[in-house]
Formats: sequence, structure tokens, C-alpha cells
Amino acid sequence: MSAQVTQVDETPAVTALRRKDLLGIADLSPQEISLILDTAEAMKEVGSRPIKKVPALRGKTVINLFYEASTRTRTSFEIAEKRLSADTLNIAVASSSVTKGETLADTAANLEAMNPDMIVLRHSSSGACHFLSRVCKSAIINAGDGMHEHPTQALLDAFTIRERKGQLAGLKVAIIGDLLHSRVLRSNIYLLTKMGANVWVCGPPTLIPTEVARFGVHPTSDVDAAVRDADVVMLLRIQLERMEGAYFPSLREYFNVFGMTEARLKGAKPDVMIMHPGPMNRGVEIASEVADGPYSVILDQVANGVAVRMAVLYLLAGGAEHEEAA
Ligand code: CP
Repeated sequence: MSAQVTQVDETPAVTALRRKDLLGIADLSPQEISLILDTAEAMKEVGSRPIKKVPALRGKTVINLFYEASTRTRTSFEIAEKRLSADTLNIAVASSSVTKGETLADTAANLEAMNPDMIVLRHSSSGACHFLSRVCKSAIINAGDGMHEHPTQALLDAFTIRERKGQLAGLKVAIIGDLLHSRVLRSNIYLLTKMGANVWVCGPPTLIPTEVARFGVHPTSDVDAAVRDADVVMLLRIQLERMEGAYFPSLREYFNVFGMTEARLKGAKPDVMIMHPGPMNRGVEIASEVADGPYSVILDQVANGVAVRMAVLYLLAGGAEHEEAA
């Protein structure tokens, strides 16, 4: 991670995303983030029509290449691509030649030979998308790379917050859970601090990345301090599959100290939003009464993922400039 300035600057708005790839939030400007969120508002309207389809990506081919399990991201990318009229296909890694030992570079070279326009990649290695970006002429969209970034998740989280609260600047956002292994945390820290939010990060000391305070956030293991007067409480999954040792005594102990319950939530603002990127561990980082309760926007996040991914695909394809040229 590189340190970010926490002020929102006064640079004029941008009208196009002049970049080949979306690899992370770290290299996006606040103006580019606003452009994606504004475009997603228009895309959300498309999704509310009786016929949820526009011709914006007609003739474009998009490959979804997922080396890790996914429900929300893969499905919403595919729906987004179809709503934009792209030709879309999914590579099921488990039934591909990856199982015979083919490398990511060789898989990418073979897919490139079929001339796709975009590749959406999820991979267990941090930096896999940056590698693909260097060797592919197709646009690369990061759908989650190892413990590094998950940029479209942070964008849909920001969209969901902005939709409810009207803005991001000045809000207190408490992010609680497995901070150490979370690509969602990294992308959200970059995005929320760039947009002027006041970000608190909370978890057991063993799960707080060293030097995270350098990125303009408030680290703490005091969950009540994190939740106090929060506008947004975002829970992160305990990623047991990425843990090699014991980071806390037991899941029950974790829930007792950090799990989000109705009682614990009483310290937050009365109109607090409860968020979780999914998949959830009910009874570990979040109680069912909170996940399914009146403050939860967890399914709104999922719904907004389609609109945000439509916006990213559309803008990387050239946006309105591409449509005018067609
Ligand atoms: N939030 C998220 O990335 O969920 P999936 O792993 O189901 O895509």
C-alpha cells in the first residue's frame, strides 16, 4: 500500500476513465471515483426497466476468469456484461487446463489469441492482475487479487453509502473484523480516505496490519470506541482459509469480543448502516439479528454491485466516446 492524502481536492470533474485497466483503487483519483459512482447511478436506472438491456458493449467480448470461489462478484459481473449487451463467457478453472498445470501467463496468452476486449480476473495471488495487465492487450478488471485489492467491492460499498447518506466526506466508517487478510479493507481504506471519510479499523491486535495508521485511519481493538457515533459499521469475514496459525483463542471468543450484536450497535448513530461484503459467518463477525435487522444494507450492496460493475465495464470500454464512435 502507498500512503494517501486524506483531503478531497478541488480538481475539476472528469468525464472519461482514460485507463486501460481497473487494477485497484490506489491509483484512482477522487474525480475518477466520482465518475464511476455517477455513471453507476445511470446504470442502476437501466436495471429497473422492464427490459434491462442497453447496446453499449454490443460486439465486445468479456471473459470472466475466476481462480477463486465467488458468488456475488462473478454473478454480478456476468449480469452487468449481459445488460450492456457484451458477449460474455465464464472460464470454470476447475474444468480448464489450469488443472493440468497451465500457468496464468499461458492461460492468458491462449485467451488473448481469441481476441477478447476485457478479462475480469479473480486470483489468489496479490498482483496477478498487474501481471496480466502487462502481458495482455485486453482491458484487465481486478475482481479480487489475493490479500491486495478488490476495487469493485469498494466502489459498490461507496455507492451504497452515498445512496443513503448523500456523501462520503465527513462520515465515520468503522471497519471491524479480519483486517489482516482482507483485500476489501485495503480497497475501502484507499477509497474512503480519498473521499474524505473518517475511517476506523478494529480487530484483535493480531489481525491489525502493522503501520495501517500510515494510511490515514484510526486502528483500535476497542470495538465500542470504533462503533461509537459511527455512521457506517462494516463487518469483515474472518478468513480462516488464509490463516495458518491461531490469531485468537476461538470463534466463540471472537464473537464475544468483536461480534456485532444489537447491544453493541447501540453506541452508533441512530441511522447507522450495517454493511458486509459477504460471504458472512453468522455468529462469528455478525449476529443474525444484525445481519437481517433494520439497519442492514447487505443485500443493497449486492444489488448495487451490478450497477457499479456495469459502470466500470462501460467506462473502460470508452464510455460515451466509444458510443459516439460506434
Ligand atoms: N464480496 C465478494 O467478493 O463476494 P464473492 O466472493 O461471493 O464474490
